[in-house]
Amino acid sequence: MEQKTSRRNILRNSVLGGVGLGFMGEFARAEGQRAPTPHEIKGPFYPLVAQKDVDFDLTRVEGRDERAEGRVIHIHGKVLDTTGKALPDVTVELWQANTHGRYNHPHDPNPAPLDPGFQGWAIVPSGEKGEFHFRTIYPGAYPATPEWSRPPHIHFKTSRRGYVELVTQMYFPGEELNETDRLLTRKPERERPKMIARADPEREHHFLFDLVIEEA
Ligand SMILES: [Fe+2]
Repeated sequence: MEQKTSRRNILRNSVLGGVGLGFMGEFARAEGQRAPTPHEIKGPFYPLVAQKDVDFDLTRVEGRDERAEGRVIHIHGKVLDTTGKALPDVTVELWQANTHGRYNHPHDPNPAPLDPGFQGWAIVPSGEKGEFHFRTIYPGAYPATPEWSRPPHIHFKTSRRGYVELVTQMYFPGEELNETDRLLTRKPERERPKMIARADPEREHHFLFDLVIEEA
């Protein structure tokens, strides 16, 4: 009997110990770790032809006088690794539709107008503190099929030696089309917030969006 009890105690202690350690492990992970930003398809409109002007300001094209049409917005972000450490020297690339929902891409079948004053594509390095900033235009929604309109979104790609390339899409908060988008709604619910920018509570037209990338 004694033996039995002590065996049960040993068993219980080891189970509790296991639970305790497991819980500690979860806790430690949750504290510093960040889940990587979910990947998304590159889509059919990744730029095909190199362009001269790929600076952070997409509202102006070098050599042209006019500003891009539409609402000017700013996107501020940081590139982090999964421990939460900021990563400098990451190439952050962004491409998107113009205010009318049209890509400057030969395969875009959308009859909406092109905007020669809109740069459409930018490539910048993240700075010393892992930060990046783009001045751009709030992208228009566009039809992916006759039954499906894509919500306003911006495509991102990151590259840095030693890290997994991240290709993803950033959505905007409060957009009704987010609820019916076939790509966004296919993501598990817990992942969706990581793909939706936050409106900067202090500055109108400014959005915050962090990218978390994994070591290769
Ligand atoms: Fe797109």
